[in-house]
Amino acid sequence: MQRREFVKFCAASATAARVPAVAAADATPKFYGRVKLIGSNGAPLKAAAVPVERNLIFHYPFAATPCFLLNLARPALAARLVTADQRAYEWQGGLGPRRSIVAYSAICAHQLAYPTREISFISYRVEKSPRNRHGNVIHCCAEHSQYDPAEGARVLAGPAPQPLAAILLEHDANTDELTAVGTLGGEMFNQFFVKYDVKLSLEGGAPRASSDTTSVVHELENYCRQQVKC
Ligand code: FES
Repeated sequence: MQRREFVKFCAASATAARVPAVAAADATPKFYGRVKLIGSNGAPLKAAAVPVERNLIFHYPFAATPCFLLNLARPALAARLVTADQRAYEWQGGLGPRRSIVAYSAICAHQLAYPTREISFISYRVEKSPRNRHGNVIHCCAEHSQYDPAEGARVLAGPAPQPLAAILLEHDANTDELTAVGTLGGEMFNQFFVKYDVKLSLEGGAPRASSDTTSVVHELENYCRQQVKC
């Protein structure tokens, strides 16, 4: 059997004492289908080939729900987080030799801005700006929610009520391939499909369909015609 560097994003009951007093039941991982990440050439994407500090997009767990795949160029360590409805969970950090590869839903936890083929208000930004005093954040220019991808997409600023949902990845240390297996944290998929039902229907396809067994990883600048910076 191949050795796998499998990250279990499970909430540890042993750490319950650190959970805020208002916490409800812990958020637990939600497992969907196993979806291998592939390049535009159809070959499996290797972790070593994930470019540093670039916005990569793939779709998971549904055909219409985008996610960021990021190589942060620095280790992303475990973080204890809480959803908007006060469910605690522990995100176990990044994958790969440097623990620098992370993945999150690209649907903003505030009012669901997301990268489309036409435009994206949300992306990872290394640089600081007048509206981005942190740098190295996922920044949504709609209302300036900022998330720290090195800490489970914890909210650093803005109106977002919870972190971006983490995408659970499996890294095969033998093949260096990456597979999405589930999510952890505050999913926004139901709200997303309600809000964008008409738009997604007009775009055709079957947006609520689950991702196929593979998902193509795109550079955001190739996937999206216009990126809003702020
Ligand atoms: S939709 Fe992202 S900050 Fe409002």
